Amino acid sequence: MKRKRWTALLVAGLAIVVSALAVVLRRPREAPTETKGVSLDFMADYFGLMDRFLGIPFRQLTLRMAGIKEGDGVLDVGCGTGTLTLMEKDKVGYFGKVAGVDIGTRLIAKAQRRASDRHLDVDFRVASIDELPFPDGTFDVATSSGMTHHLPPDVKRAGFAEVYRALKPDGRYLIVDFSPSTGLWGKAKLAVYRQLAKLFEEVRYSIEVTEGKLPELLQQAGFADVEKLGTYRVGGFVPITFILARKK
Ligand SMILES: C[S@@+](CC[C@H](N)C(=O)[O-])C[C@H]1O[C@@H](n2cnc3c(N)ncnc32)[C@H](O)[C@@H]1O
Repeated sequence: MKRKRWTALLVAGLAIVVSALAVVLRRPREAPTETKGVSLDFMADYFGLMDRFLGIPFRQLTLRMAGIKEGDGVLDVGCGTGTLTLMEKDKVGYFGKVAGVDIGTRLIAKAQRRASDRHLDVDFRVASIDELPFPDGTFDVATSSGMTHHLPPDVKRAGFAEVYRALKPDGRYLIVDFSPSTGLWGKAKLAVYRQLAKLFEEVRYSIEVTEGKLPELLQQAGFADVEKLGTYRVGGFVPITFILARKK
């Protein structure tokens, strides 16, 4: 009698979980063409956790890979709450100009507060990578850390062309993002992603990054000398690749 009751409870529990999954997975999604990308605005109060996971050595390595030096003009695209951007300002010093853009209004408000708390002059603005509010040839260096996998394919292409436009001749663009999935394990992961991509646009946007398409897309936007500088394992296990491209 007792066993029958437990079996019934187990079946009911499974049914609830399966129904909940069905509702979540089949929920109506926004038309991907209407979005500029996956905004992390809802995480504005928790960005500190991501910073802790990424760690300061990773940020310092990013600054070194970008080759940022005193007096440079730097644009951080998809800056979140501005952790890397503020470090860029520290690096370029008083005479260097630093700007950060993100589509998240709360993220930018928090970045502005952090800059003013530290009395740092950083130009934080709400803007998308494909509509940068800066004149042609403004910056020596641009960086995008962990952001290109947030972009729909058309915004990624238009965005890279915009970064190219906003850079000075010989300017550099450093992209830091997930490493391409290679080998047997990588191929298995990609196969799973491709299935998940049918359900979630967030996963669909990241596919080009994990397929290793970024260098090709940067070249299509006009960049020359596109090179992979190396890979870093965040938290000891998430492989992140540094890609540097130069404006002709
Ligand atoms: C994983 S976060 C990385 C934030 C920051 N670069 C860092 O390293 O802490 C990616 C950021 O890209 C932003 N983003 C997404 N689509 C964007 C777009 N079209 N233009 C600018 N930023 C965008 C998101 O709002 C988010 O803050």
